[in-house]
Amino acid sequence: MGKNQLGGSLEEGVLSAVHKTPDADKSPDSRFLRSFGRRHGKTLRAQRKGLLKEKLPAVTLDLERTVQEQFAPTTRTFWLEIGFGGGEHLVAQARAHRDVGLIGCEPYIDGVAKLLAQADEGELDNVRIHADDARQIFPAIPKAALERIFVLFPDPWPKVRHHKRRIIQDRVLDDFARMLADGGELRFASDHMGYVRWTLAHVMRHGDFEWIAQRPTDWRAPPADWVRTRYEQKALKRGDACVYLRFRRKPRT
Ligand SMILES: C[S@@+](CC[C@H](N)C(=O)[O-])C[C@H]1O[C@@H](n2cnc3c(N)ncnc32)[C@H](O)[C@@H]1O
Repeated sequence: MGKNQLGGSLEEGVLSAVHKTPDADKSPDSRFLRSFGRRHGKTLRAQRKGLLKEKLPAVTLDLERTVQEQFAPTTRTFWLEIGFGGGEHLVAQARAHRDVGLIGCEPYIDGVAKLLAQADEGELDNVRIHADDARQIFPAIPKAALERIFVLFPDPWPKVRHHKRRIIQDRVLDDFARMLADGGELRFASDHMGYVRWTLAHVMRHGDFEWIAQRPTDWRAPPADWVRTRYEQKALKRGDACVYLRFRRKPRT
């Protein structure tokens, strides 16, 4: 059985969060606090700089236009990945689901370049990128437009005074609830048990989501169509347990 950083079993840690219902967040709007670390590394190789210049404009999400008109006219399903890192998950999902329009957000420009380097000509036809804070694009996404939102191994901001920088906050969950279609899915994964508990507690008290989990394997193992991310691989290599949470957006009444 996997142990979490606090020494308890994974099950105890995950389940204890469900029974805790923290007070609603009354702090100043944390959506305006920075939730990410570096914008770029020390040096970006010339080749990566070239890729950004050549390939990024064609796949950049245009916030002045509707999301739908930026994908093929036949695209009916849209997914959003927040903080795609090097883009391994986003590119694999885009390859596996050519009929889905994938929107990826990542302010770390070296990660954006890495994503562009992985994709061959034409492979990004169903991908649009916002090379910045995902929260900036929420107002441009229509109500119930998304079938899936991925938040995979987000920055954990472990210090208590930094918790307000975590991407999962009450107001962001309001945005997720608005953007997700009825029955749409929010996927969250982390190896940081404090953040797992935080997310469970916040999502469960929100009211618009239900946790799709019946047994421990549902959060201890990734879903069948999962693509391992770089941070996940690093965690597993260290021997750390990862938790996979799936929430369904409840039908609007
Ligand atoms: C720990 S990394 C994980 C990257 C990737 N998901 C993985 O699992 O390998 C978290 C990423 O989230 C990005 N991030 C943090 N806040 C964000 C935000 N508000 N919008 C978009 N990306 C964000 C960071 O820049 C960072 O690359």
